[in-house]
Amino acid sequence: MNKSAPIGIFDSGVGGLTVMRKLIQGMPEENIIYFGDTARVPYGNKSKETIIHYTRQIVRFLESQNVKAIVIACNTASAYALDDIRKETEIPIIGVIEPGAYAAAAATRNGKIGIIGTYATIHSGAYESFLSQINPDFEIYKQACPLFVPFVEEGLFEDDLTDQIIARYLTEIKRENIDTLLLGCTHYPLIKTAIERFMGENVICVDPGLNTAEMLRQILTKNNLLNTSFSQEKANYLFYVSDPAARMTEFANQIMPFSIGKIQKINIEEY
Ligand code: DGL
Repeated sequence: MNKSAPIGIFDSGVGGLTVMRKLIQGMPEENIIYFGDTARVPYGNKSKETIIHYTRQIVRFLESQNVKAIVIACNTASAYALDDIRKETEIPIIGVIEPGAYAAAAATRNGKIGIIGTYATIHSGAYESFLSQINPDFEIYKQACPLFVPFVEEGLFEDDLTDQIIARYLTEIKRENIDTLLLGCTHYPLIKTAIERFMGENVICVDPGLNTAEMLRQILTKNNLLNTSFSQEKANYLFYVSDPAARMTEFANQIMPFSIGKIQKINIEEY
């Protein structure tokens, strides 16, 4: 495998760009291909079978682009599809759940951890399963927060309505005296400041993206796949979607620290 081949990263939509940001921060020398399944988002209220089917098609598309590794940025797809899809590909593939669980385990001091995510992620039990393998004594509290995704996509990062919805979802979990809150959805890092304000200074909010980048680095190192032929030129980033709605492009540009420029549409049903 060519070391300068791109890393493939995908999400149900453009929220996974929050994870891509962390990859760029941690590995600025790596070329990256991003795919957002904007025609079929959201995944968070779909069945396991559908999520596995969608994930399989996206992995096939990324394989056709000769990626050297794949990151499932979507928590929902990581929770439901990673184990099955990993058996179907030779390419190293990681999700965000395992790195997120390790980051939360490292952050907690009192062992009380909250997990928030889509209905599907919360229902899957994937985060708890990793956390209880790390330490069976952890006390886990969880809450699905489905309205956070549309609020974030409306750009309401700092807004009274967002504060109200945060209070509505997180009041109970706050009462449990947790000291760590896992932001188990691609969109939540974008309202991290508002969530932290509500939870108070004793609660650490963990964004799995950072540790995902770290885990990916370790896997690339182990497989001798780190890009060493990096020159002064900027790394190459390519963006693909399954539906090119202008609104999604605007949102994507809000998330990234640079204008993402041209986004190409592909027919994901062909894969
Ligand atoms: N990307 C999804 C996740 O991280 C959130 C949006 C959706 O429901 O598809 O779980």
